[in-house]
Amino acid sequence: MIESGPSPRIACSEAFRGIEKASHTMTFDDLLYKLWDDYATLNPQARAIHNLLQARGERIVNDHIALRTYDDPRVSIDRLARAFEKVGYTRQEEYDFEQKKLFARHFEHDDPNQPKVFISELQLAKCSDALRAKVAALLDQLPGDQMQRDDAPVAGRSWDLSFADYEALAAESEYAGWVAAFGFRANHFTVFVNALTTFESLQALNTCLKQNGYALNDSGGEVKGSPDVFLEQSSTLADQVEVKFSDGTHVIPACYYEFARRYPLPSGELFQGFVAKSADKIFESTDRR
Ligand code: NI
Repeated sequence: MIESGPSPRIACSEAFRGIEKASHTMTFDDLLYKLWDDYATLNPQARAIHNLLQARGERIVNDHIALRTYDDPRVSIDRLARAFEKVGYTRQEEYDFEQKKLFARHFEHDDPNQPKVFISELQLAKCSDALRAKVAALLDQLPGDQMQRDDAPVAGRSWDLSFADYEALAAESEYAGWVAAFGFRANHFTVFVNALTTFESLQALNTCLKQNGYALNDSGGEVKGSPDVFLEQSSTLADQVEVKFSDGTHVIPACYYEFARRYPLPSGELFQGFVAKSADKIFESTDRR
């Protein structure tokens, strides 16, 4: 495998290999490495696309990493964010997704070359009593100190879940089903398209991905957003992976890879936020089909 450049502080390169530490206290690089390794192992398409771009000579920069959770105080955005705040992130904008009953916040690192972190949470009070009861039953199984640990954002799933409960959750909220099945880990990494040198546009990258056999999420069009809102995004459809449930193994959608091109604001600075209308459609990349 090709190592991508001298700076492990940028992006999710394979240069991280070998620096993983099993300690409770994590550095920024440890946390980023664990998130990437977990994500790329669970989702073979992410590593394959990463390698495809590297083979063209690209050096991949991460625009952002996204995580999903429920708004229960034990696991909420504020709870998950602590591990990132400890290594230099601060909270920025917030976003509402009324129809999907989601709230989100993004976080930026002191070093602007580091990926942004986007964390969303399902607003349980807006969901049915049945969904709330099922989610509470999962969270009641959390090991005592798990969410206090520095690796809480990449702890995975630490509860038993039946396939019937997964399906019941997903029938009401695809998002609720995803978090129940996968727990705490990166939902997606995002290639910063501006840093690519062999594609003139996001559209050109999309064409290359399709030619290589990757299906893109076309809900709301392949490209979400436009230069008018200073952000264009696209994403693959989630990998289908085998997941163990308490009553057997089933194939369900896991994670997708996202691509973002940012445009300068009138001030000349690149827009660093997110566009709720675009993200709303991108959430659907993990829907069951
Ligand atoms: Ni994203």
